[in-house]
Amino acid sequence: MATSFKLNGATVTVQAETDTPLLWVVRDELGFTGTKFGCGLGLCGACTMHVDGEPIRSCQTPLSTVAGKSVATIESLSKDNSHPLQKAWIEHDVPQCGYCQSGQLMSAAALLTSNRNPSDADIDSAMAGNICRCGTYDRIRASIKTAAANLRKQS
Ligand code: FES
Ligand code: FES
Repeated sequence: MATSFKLNGATVTVQAETDTPLLWVVRDELGFTGTKFGCGLGLCGACTMHVDGEPIRSCQTPLSTVAGKSVATIESLSKDNSHPLQKAWIEHDVPQCGYCQSGQLMSAAALLTSNRNPSDADIDSAMAGNICRCGTYDRIRASIKTAAANLRKQS
């Protein structure tokens, strides 16, 4: 069955079972491999994408639920690492193995869309579902604060 939705601003149509997880569709059918598979159980956050601006776990999101909606992946932030979060991630040298970082960035991006001056508690709340087995949490928090400060300067 054909399902259409917007992916990073462009309309896409895929032929897949409607209960196929969005993660598989985006990676395997559409070739956007920046989003990673971690647990497959909605527990780690590695697969975080946005649907209509809200962070979701794409491993637990059936294709049918995004029909007609707008999906954004890590590839939507920028093509040249110029997004304030990407710059801050580089500045603070955040990733270790890197596996969780796509999901971390997408959760952080959703947070900064609604809150450009997040407190530690705001960051902890927004990022609570994103697990980093390498323990990069302190650098992630610092990077979100750096990106938020730069966004406030721009506006
Ligand atoms: S892979 Fe989706 S939450 Fe872990
Ligand atoms: S950087 Fe390795 S899991 Fe987060």
